[in-house]
Amino acid sequence: MRALTWHGKRDVRVDTVPDPTIKDPTDVIVQITSTGLCGSDLHLYEVMGPFLGEGDILGHEPMGIVAEKGAGVTSLEVGDRVVVPFNLSCGTCWMCERGLHSQCETTQNREQGMGASLFGYTKLYGQVPGGQAEYLRVPFGDRLPIKVPEGPPDDRFVLLSDVLPTAWQAVAYADPPRDGSLVVLGLGPIGDMACRIARHRGIENVVGIDLVPERLARAKARGVTTIDLQDAGDDVVDAVRTLTGGRGADAVIDAVGMEAHGSPIGSIAHRLVGLLPDTLAAPLMRTAGVDRMAAFDLAVQLVRRGGTVSLSGVYGGTADPIPLLNLFDKQIQLRMGQANVHRWVPDILPLLGDDDPLGTEGFATHHVPLESAPEAYAMFQENRPWSCSWACSATVSRRSSTSCVGPSACCRTSCTPCCRSCATSRARSTRRCSTRRASARRCASSPSGSTLRCGSATTAGGSVRPPRAPCTSRWPTRWPRRWPRTRSRPAR
Ligand SMILES: NC(=O)c1ccc[n+]([C@@H]2O[C@H](COP(=O)([O-])OP(=O)(O)OC[C@H]3O[C@@H](n4cnc5c(N)ncnc54)[C@H](O)[C@@H]3O)[C@@H](O)[C@H]2O)c1
Ligand SMILES: [Zn+2]
Ligand SMILES: [Zn+2]
Repeated sequence: MRALTWHGKRDVRVDTVPDPTIKDPTDVIVQITSTGLCGSDLHLYEVMGPFLGEGDILGHEPMGIVAEKGAGVTSLEVGDRVVVPFNLSCGTCWMCERGLHSQCETTQNREQGMGASLFGYTKLYGQVPGGQAEYLRVPFGDRLPIKVPEGPPDDRFVLLSDVLPTAWQAVAYADPPRDGSLVVLGLGPIGDMACRIARHRGIENVVGIDLVPERLARAKARGVTTIDLQDAGDDVVDAVRTLTGGRGADAVIDAVGMEAHGSPIGSIAHRLVGLLPDTLAAPLMRTAGVDRMAAFDLAVQLVRRGGTVSLSGVYGGTADPIPLLNLFDKQIQLRMGQANVHRWVPDILPLLGDDDPLGTEGFATHHVPLESAPEAYAMFQENRPWSCSWACSATVSRRSSTSCVGPSACCRTSCTPCCRSCATSRARSTRRCSTRRASARRCASSPSGSTLRCGSATTAGGSVRPPRAPCTSRWPTRWPRRWPRTRSRPAR
């Protein structure tokens, strides 16, 4: 079969690899029809290399059709349509029975000291082959796959594997009162969906913060008050206070994680570790690894005294400088973890009917073929977020060729900030402006598409529409003029 495999930092390829086979009677083999590409994949692409092996198959957000089943599987039939949760949980152990599926005791990685195994996610989490492939072996066939109805397109259900339960858990853990306030840091797929879920659950004062204009605009269009971190800079804390009665937010969700922008020290540490051979880098990361902490630090500043910080962004550092004084003094509750997918499925499934209140069908902005997945990774990584705003989640789909919009829509997405920036900077700097005007011209020639979130995705075998070359109108990759100095402010 064809599968996306990891070969090194920023080096993923689509290779021909052996088909998966039934190993245990409770296994099923799923023929993948769609899968997502999310911010967690980008951590593997960029930072987590020391924990990957050459040839590892990536991908953890798949859905498809049961192609084969073991003799012990009784609740699924060949041909059933299923979504596969990103973490492997048995459904019957002590942890699973308590709704802590991401801590499943059957798949816990005890020798690594880590929780439940994940599809396509490093040696720390079992090195299980992932779902950005034509076929996937799925254990616990009677318990793990989620059967979904025929009819609606994959886009309606594929987010059930990761984005929906992760965002649902983020809001559930944040648990702001309905008449209270919730700040969501990061408006990628997870943050955007968390905003939608919070609004759906009746929380009126939802504030979203990001740096990417399209992501901000998309959240705003669904009733979220937005703050552009690039514009607000150091004033972001005051801006949130103004919106929350002067106290700060009842709850803050960090949907950014370990690669937050505005963390120069963490960024340098990532780069230095990236220069080391894996044999040195892996133990170093396990004992002295640090993340980019800007988003977490900001969350601690934005939450009110006695409030809750809900971390869904993934962190991997073992020596992160955490502001314990502020956490303790402000009496902050901190809740976090990988999503316990099955715990939230009964809440989410009823929302995936034809009225689609969370807007799942229009959520992914790009559909690309599996064969183009390496370009999709490169685009998402290269163009986040102060270059073109491709940041995204992708859907790699075999079926939804008819809905394939191709990366062309991205061009519009990417270029919008170029145009806007061009317009604003024209008065200030003609020279810089003229560079960007060129970008704007390129943009104007692109087909329009309204999007934010790059769901690059596509057809596992044979695409319908060849993807266009990525937009070349990138922002200069210079260090931004003004990052919020979130660590320098005293807690209030
Ligand atoms: N807990 C879980 O089970 C789980 C599951 C899926 C994803 N995740 C994690 O959630 C996080 C978000 O995932 P995603 O797919 O939405 O990622 P993404 O990279 O698409 O989105 C992150 C967003 O954060 C913004 N951002 C960067 N720095 C910021 C800052 N300092 N302040 C505010 N915003 C900032 C970026 O512009 C971007 O839009 C990632 O860390 C991912 O690994 C966790
Ligand atoms: Zn994911
Ligand atoms: Zn279990």
